[in-house]
Amino acid sequence: NNLTQDELKKIAAYKAVEFVQSGMVLGLGTGSTAKHAVDRIAELMKLGKLKNIVGIPTSNMTRDQAVSLGIPLSDLDTHPIIDMAIDGADEVDPDMNLVKGRGGSLLREKMVETASKKFIVIVDESKLVNHIGGSGLAMPVEIVPFCWKFTLKRLEMLFMEAGCIGKLRMFPGTENPFVTDNGNYIIDLYFKKDIGDLKAASDAILRLAGVVEHGMFLDMATTLIVAGELGVTVRNK
Ligand code: A5P
Repeated sequence: NNLTQDELKKIAAYKAVEFVQSGMVLGLGTGSTAKHAVDRIAELMKLGKLKNIVGIPTSNMTRDQAVSLGIPLSDLDTHPIIDMAIDGADEVDPDMNLVKGRGGSLLREKMVETASKKFIVIVDESKLVNHIGGSGLAMPVEIVPFCWKFTLKRLEMLFMEAGCIGKLRMFPGTENPFVTDNGNYIIDLYFKKDIGDLKAASDAILRLAGVVEHGMFLDMATTLIVAGELGVTVRNK
């Protein structure tokens, strides 16, 4: 056995694509797991097993991948209702609440996935957590660049009791802030303690004027596919 993490991601992605049917408008996720799903969709289209697929990409990166594979694309203006979205996640809790956005695409992902009738989340088992935001890893928040230090401080103050530290995300190995597809910055929040009620945390973050969106995807996933050493499981909400 001993599959690599990337092999597990691929198993979860391929499983999700089994649920895709011809004629669907599909939300195409972003990241190393979702990439396998997009590859597989294109492969089945080439084999003639999937027909009349329209993809709605969640990032410029996925758009470029889909274009290179010949998947016809559209957008939310034209297709405000999406049949199914398939995407990865950074953390998944037992209620299928997610943290997303470590790749920086959270805003478009949330726009596309809230417009989807079905949202299939694909992960390898390392992404499963008991409490989201409690893993010591980043909780991303997309903010406008204007006075970002001010917004960073406001975010830290919101979660002072949880020992929150915010960091401006940089392009790796540079001194330049990471810029999202929407021209915004990302603040990564780190918590020392549990942040408590997730809905309350979400509302509080969204009330800050400099905030565009955050990476908590609460009550959105309808199906969770997890690939692990012992096999792949599919769970519906
Ligand atoms: C992109 O911004 C993210 O939300 C990704 O969907 C998430 O980071 C999962 O990425 P991987 O599949 O690469 O782990």
